[in-house]
Formats: sequence, structure tokens, C-alpha cells
Amino acid sequence: MSTSMPKGVFDLLPEPLLLDQKERWRSVEIWQWVERSIRELCDAYGYEEIRTPVFEKTELFQRGVGETSDIVTKEMYTFQDNGKRSLTLRPEGTAPIMRAALTGKFTSQSPVSKLFYLAPMFRYERPQAGRFRQHHQFGVEILGVPAPEQDAEVISFLCQLYAKLGLKNLRVQINSLGSPKSRQAYRQALIDYLEPLKDQLSEDSRTRLTKNPLRVLDSKAPEDQEAVKGAPSILDHLEPDCLAHFEKVKQLLTQMGVDYEVNHRLVRGLDYYNRTVFEVVTEDLGAQNSLGGGGRYDGLLKTLGGPDLPAIGFGMGMERVIQALLRQKEEIYVRKNTFLYLIPLGEAATSFCFSSAKQLRDYGISTQVDYTGRKLKKVMSHANWQGVEYVAVIGDAELEQDQFKLRNMNTGEEVELLISELLFEMLYLEGQQRSRELQQLASDLNEAIDQDWLQKKESQSPNSSNED
Ligand code: HAM
Repeated sequence: MSTSMPKGVFDLLPEPLLLDQKERWRSVEIWQWVERSIRELCDAYGYEEIRTPVFEKTELFQRGVGETSDIVTKEMYTFQDNGKRSLTLRPEGTAPIMRAALTGKFTSQSPVSKLFYLAPMFRYERPQAGRFRQHHQFGVEILGVPAPEQDAEVISFLCQLYAKLGLKNLRVQINSLGSPKSRQAYRQALIDYLEPLKDQLSEDSRTRLTKNPLRVLDSKAPEDQEAVKGAPSILDHLEPDCLAHFEKVKQLLTQMGVDYEVNHRLVRGLDYYNRTVFEVVTEDLGAQNSLGGGGRYDGLLKTLGGPDLPAIGFGMGMERVIQALLRQKEEIYVRKNTFLYLIPLGEAATSFCFSSAKQLRDYGISTQVDYTGRKLKKVMSHANWQGVEYVAVIGDAELEQDQFKLRNMNTGEEVELLISELLFEMLYLEGQQRSRELQQLASDLNEAIDQDWLQKKESQSPNSSNED
């Protein structure tokens, strides 16, 4: 039997179990920290969590994501179950949420739904740096709001999350794909432009030219990028109401301080988009540079047999965000270590530590007890490897004399304490540690505010150059 992993998947592990620092992006503590930040921000915006099944009927994605998209044509994990039904592992989150909205009759219960998800996605792609066959997305989907304010809010939400996590060097690109009608007119203009250049295009793009010519625009193949340099802009083909919508989104983004650029060649690879589309890219990850993207998909619910309801959302790749963060800074979160590690020597001490641990945990002190009975040196080195804060070795003699030594594993210092006061002492020490952490947080914040102020002052100074 082979115990090797399938291609393009990975384990998330507790940080101490990672064999190599380069693999820190797989530290489960870092993922939990990012997930906590996401949940906090979702609370601030009133977005509620939704969890859909890992597999759906294949036709949902065929109809929802689109027959000509790369996902449907070549990337789905599709299988037949024992009842001969065709099922597919979720390649993306939007279509399943529209399906859930129909199944759960969301729209008859509430005119607006603001939902978010944290979930694995499955795509049969060629694995490479930043591209996996099972990846994880944080995404939001808002149903029922056509206003441009919603577009701007969703884009600025994503930017606020990146800022909260401490990500820098990002570019926010936006575009409008207009309505299906204006896209049809643009489609023809694009075909007229590309047809004479057909021989210069990559093989994939020659096929796209007839099936979905807009996809040629965001092809990564160098020959395609060269060919589309002079392509007409979709923005010149927008209907007046779509143009007005796009102008308003831009104005609102500026108002909120989102630094964006318009990229009229941004089309995104899924067929359901209309009007606003956006993507956040980084220079820090090589070819797989998209940290997140999304857009409006006002017609999707109707395509799936539901009411005609506007919708907008985005998906953000957790792996890429964490990898980009680790490229930018080493210290990205505070690992919460076990606070106290009790090592009992002897039967009475084991029984004492067993019940004391329960009491300590009741008071919120994270505590582990060693029950392995291994040699003290080995147990100490295991506690050290785990990164625990304090270790107490308690033998029967210590119990009799009501005294024990508490070792601070960071400094190596030892203090003698009363066993009867174990709980009190540990609560006191944890309080001190917490207060040091809060002081550090306050001083970091202060420093960031100072730097921000300096930067603003510099950019306002009359000597600062705005010439380019
Ligand atoms: P998407 O652009 O296909 O959009 O995926 C969203 C994000 O997921 C990408 O920007 C990237 O960060 C990450 N991602 C995608 N594929 C992979 C992969 N193979 N390995 C690692 N990361 C990956 C969607 O899926 C849409 N459902 C987003 C959306 C929601 N639009 C509207 N609402």
C-alpha cells in the first residue's frame, strides 16, 4: 500500500511538527489566526457563515460556472456514485451558495443575504507554486443588493482584511463587463480585432476565439498578451447605466481610500460575471499572483431557475495569502503555548497532578500533564520542544513538604513555591504575561500610527514629487 499523498494536496500541522521553516505556511496556528481575523471582520460587516456540502450535482457547476470556463472544461473532480448520479467536488463557492439559496428559499425569508464561507475547493490543475488541487477559499456572497455602494463595500472589505493581516505591496484591479447585451456587442468587436491575428495566438486562445473570446484577454501566454495589446476596450462598449454604475463604484472606492487601477483586460475566468469585476494581485508569489477576486453576477440565480436577483462576491485563496504574508514578515502571529506542563514522579504525585490540572483548566490556565512515565530528561526536552512556558516537576517528596520548583522555560530561572498555592501562583503569572502582551500590542500600535503620520506628512510636503 502506498502512503504517499495525491498530487497537489497538503497537510496542515501544528507548528512544532513542521519539518522545515519553508513549510511554515502549513502551520495550523497561522491558519487559525487568519481565520479568526476573517471572522472578526465578518462580524463587523454583519456577514453570516454558510457551510455547503463538499460535493454537488455536476450540472450545478456546468450551468452555474459555465460550459466554456476552464473549471468546467478541464478541472472538475467528477465521479459517479453507486446510484449512477454524476457528482462533482466543489471547485468554487458561488454556485453552491446560489443552490443553497434556492433550496433554503432565502429570498422569500429575507430580501438581502450577506454570507461568508471558509471551505476547501477542488480543481484538477497542474500543481505548481501557489496552485493546488485542493485549495481553501474565504469568500463572501451578497444577494439582493444592486447598488454600486455594495460593490465598493465588498472590494474595500477585501482590502481591509489584507490590511488587518498586515499584507503589503498589493494591486487592486477593477473592470466592468457590462450587461450581457453590451458584452455581445463587444464580443463581436473583439473577434473582428483578433481574427486577423489568429495565427499568432496560443492553441488555447485559438479555441477560445470562437467559444469565449473574452478569455483571450486575460490569457497568461506571452504570444496572447502581445496580440491583445491593441484590442478594443470593453469599457468603450458599456451601456450608459453600466457605465454610470462603474463610475460610481470608482468614485466610492476613491472616497474610501482604496488604491485601485482600472484594467480593461480583466475578465476573470468564470462565465457568470457582469458589471464590476475585480482582482487583488501581489508581486510576491510569481505566476500564481491572484490573492483573491470576484465580481457581480446578477443573472446567476435566474440561470439556475430562481428569481432575478442581483448578487456580488469574492473568493480569496487562503494558501496564497498566508504564503505572501510569510514572504513579507516572519512574525505574523503570537503562538499560544501551553502555559504549564506538570511532570509527576510517583503515584501520589500523578493523582495530585491529574486533579490539579482539571482545576487549573477550569480557571483557563492551559495545562498538560505528562503521563508517559519516561525519563525526566526526555520529558523535559519534549516540553521544551513544544514551547511550553512553565514546567513543574512534582514528586511524592514535594507533596509531603508542600513545596515545588517552577521552571520558566524561556529564561531557565527556577523559583520555589508552595504546592497548596499552585493555582494562585499560575493565575498571577498568567496575568503578568497577559499584561506584557497588551503593553507590546499598544506599543506596536503606537509605532504604526507614528509611521502612518510621518508618511502622510511626507506625501503632503510641497517638496514631495508627484510628477509621474
Ligand atoms: P477564482 O478566481 O477562481 O474565483 O478563485 C478565487 C481565489 O482562489 C483566487 O484568486 C486564488 O487566490 C484562489 N485559487 C483559485 N484556484 C486556486 C488553486 N488551484 N490553488 C490555490 N489557490 C487558488 C472563484 O472561485 C469565484 N467563486 C469567486 C467569487 C465569489 N466570485 C464571486 N463570488
